[in-house]
Amino acid sequence: MTGTGLPMTVPAAGLPARVRIHEVGARDGLQNENAVVPTEVKAEFIHRLADAGLTTVEATSFVHPKWVPQLADAEQLFPLLDDLRDGPAGVRLPVLVPNERGLDRATALGADRVAVFASATESFAKANLNRTVDEALAMFAPVVSRARERDMHVRGYLSMCFGDPWEGPVEVGQVVRVCRALLDLGCDELSLGDTIGVATPGHVTALLTALNEAGVPTDRIGVHFHDTYGQALANTLAALRHGVSTVDASAGGLGGCPYAKSATGNLATEDLVWMLQGLGIETGVDLGRLSATSAWMADRLGRPSPSRTVRALTHQEQ
Ligand code: HMG
Ligand code: MG
Repeated sequence: MTGTGLPMTVPAAGLPARVRIHEVGARDGLQNENAVVPTEVKAEFIHRLADAGLTTVEATSFVHPKWVPQLADAEQLFPLLDDLRDGPAGVRLPVLVPNERGLDRATALGADRVAVFASATESFAKANLNRTVDEALAMFAPVVSRARERDMHVRGYLSMCFGDPWEGPVEVGQVVRVCRALLDLGCDELSLGDTIGVATPGHVTALLTALNEAGVPTDRIGVHFHDTYGQALANTLAALRHGVSTVDASAGGLGGCPYAKSATGNLATEDLVWMLQGLGIETGVDLGRLSATSAWMADRLGRPSPSRTVRALTHQEQ
């Protein structure tokens, strides 16, 4: 630490000049909290994230409220964010939609960016979507085509890209097949999910290389690491070295997945920004403001942030 709350900047060769952070704390983070966070608190959280310089803030999910009760207030929350999307900052507010019902709910409120979420494994497809992998892709097909007709941006998440709690290690070929299928449906970008945080850097590079060989360009790939085994930053660096410049992260390291019990928090946005800033990679994020936001949210949730950077910068108790 330099004593200023910022790392010293020492660039390294072969990395992107700028990284777009896809902030998932309000969705991936809060969907896994036992406590249901009041709608106004979520709205304030998202406004604070935008004030800290995050330009893509995943807001919520239009899924079945019984499956994810924590996000059952999507209809109430989303209109409270209109000023962000329509304001001068033009914050991107993607939302998750599993099916046409979800897309209808999202478009009725003016959403212009959606994400479908597939699985590389059958077990998780069943647990998360009550479908086989291919049935889930069939469910997404009309969602993606209707969204594209409306000029919406569509992200395709793929979970269990490295390991699965029921099936163990996941073969690269299995992941490549579903990634290709998501792109063929018309998704604009992919996000490779290490849902249970078991990936290691060599595995990340091998998957990215296999995707390139299958005709998937690196500039359409984002990475989504969970930090269960403390590998999320190392995996991110491997992806940056490969040329990836879209990285998902969750403010304060909130997160997990309600349908994968061994999933813990996402890579903390503050830990990511600390590393990127040290490398001289632009993100547009104000680390002090962001950490203060995560400390504020940790107070609302009644437990300290798991992010090392948040704890160091805000002197939170462990
Ligand atoms: P299902 O039970 O098979 O649903 O669930 P269905 O299609 O049979 O419909 C049953 C009823 O649900 C119907 O109502 C539908 O209208 C209603 P009824 O006619 O019986 O009264 N329904 C809906 N209601 C509101 N909104 C909807 C909706 N869809 C159907 N969108 C379903 C299938 C996909 C709906 C369910 O499995 C579901 O909602 N799953 C969501 C699970 C989820 O959100 N998981 C977390 C996100 S994924 C994640 O976190 C991983 C990620 O972070 C990446 C990583 O880390 O790997 C992205
Ligand atoms: Mg996730």
